[in-house]
Amino acid sequence: MNKLGVGFIGSGFIARFAAQGWTTVRDADVVAIYNPHREGAEKLSAYCEGLGLGKPKTYTDLHAMLADKAINAVWVLNPNFARLETVRTITEEARQGRGNLVGVACEKPLGRTADEAEEMVELVEKTGLLHGYLENQVYSPSVVRGRDAIWRYGARKAGRPYLARAAEEHGGPHMPWFWDPRRSGGGVLLDMACHSIEAARFLLTDPETPRGLKPATIQGDIRSLKWTREPARSQLRKQYGVDYAEAPAEDYASVNITYDDNGESVLSEAKVSWCYTGPGLRLSMEVLGPEYSIAINSLQQELSVFFSRNIKMGQSEDFVEKQAAEQGLMPIVADEAAAYGYAAECRHMADAFRRGIMPSENWIDGLLVTRLMMLAYKSAEEEKVLKFSPEAVHGFIPKVAKGTWRP
Ligand SMILES: NC(=O)c1ccc[n+]([C@@H]2O[C@H](COP(=O)([O-])OP(=O)(O)OC[C@H]3O[C@@H](n4cnc5c(N)ncnc54)[C@H](O)[C@@H]3O)[C@@H](O)[C@H]2O)c1
Repeated sequence: MNKLGVGFIGSGFIARFAAQGWTTVRDADVVAIYNPHREGAEKLSAYCEGLGLGKPKTYTDLHAMLADKAINAVWVLNPNFARLETVRTITEEARQGRGNLVGVACEKPLGRTADEAEEMVELVEKTGLLHGYLENQVYSPSVVRGRDAIWRYGARKAGRPYLARAAEEHGGPHMPWFWDPRRSGGGVLLDMACHSIEAARFLLTDPETPRGLKPATIQGDIRSLKWTREPARSQLRKQYGVDYAEAPAEDYASVNITYDDNGESVLSEAKVSWCYTGPGLRLSMEVLGPEYSIAINSLQQELSVFFSRNIKMGQSEDFVEKQAAEQGLMPIVADEAAAYGYAAECRHMADAFRRGIMPSENWIDGLLVTRLMMLAYKSAEEEKVLKFSPEAVHGFIPKVAKGTWRP
């Protein structure tokens, strides 16, 4: 295939990042956007045009977009609650052979439960479609370069890394549906520990034996530190119309996982929160090994700006995602789509689909991450360390997702 034609499903916050990432992709074009609400699709289409990507055609009927012969791959970028239904439609269309699909890339989390993620994997495997799991952090240049440095030099000389810590923190999500765990599937554990669990696993994995690590035990802890308490609770009601007294979700989670690597035990620590007040989104990671370590902090940028009290600007996310202030000394992430990994992720997925090979990060990884998160919820509910077992989370729905969890 010379050029890959891509259709976006969903056109919200993450789709804009994907479009920015797309400006670095060769031999692939975003040719269509589907959104049940036409206005959303048209807005993103105009945004793509402004980025110099051409003007993707808009669809409000998913079947019609999937039947469009110009489309070889789709990016599933819609909310968690629409994910499984969307994948059922995509795989049904692929089985009927109406369009020209070769690949499907899907945002995190792959499923809201292990059952959903398993069904998605079963469906996609029946079609023979290539599948990519859009975990951007494992494509972030700092994470990729950091892993390369420790494994190429440190680990080869002194032994493998034994501990990876990954944290993602900000002040809370931007749309009401994220705050309703009965729709989204959970709180910050589901929303963000998926990133930190996978980034830590990636850093701990020998690039030469990519499937070497076996999960052994999981310990989860979830809390509500801010958003069920006043005045935050009233703020949530006012801003998003959400009553956290009815169905609260965790705004802090800690997930410790031990992996076995040929008899050697290694540890991953993921800490995530929606209750961090700082300049904006903070991604931090550390890897410790014998005689070496690495550290990443996305808010320690080479670029910062200072605005005195005499400069007033309106609320903005121009400098960094989830920016929390517009005055004083502020870090600027100069190219967020590159720094967070979206650009390299788009390039990798598009290239793999065009060449007919499975992306390095795919739904098998997404399924494992979903199982690990479900085990972390279960561990938190039972207040004990659990052994890794896919069977243990068959049929499991976290109390948070049922709306019955109380902090
Ligand atoms: N990788 C990351 O860092 C990252 C960051 C943010 C969001 N996400 C994930 O991306 C997904 C979307 O999040 P978002 O922040 O863009 O949400 P959003 O609410 O900003 O956007 C969702 C978009 O999907 C559209 N939509 C709603 N129902 C739909 C349906 N049935 N079919 C197609 N489109 C539909 C909405 O109109 C909107 O355009 C979520 O699963 C989220 O977890 C990932």
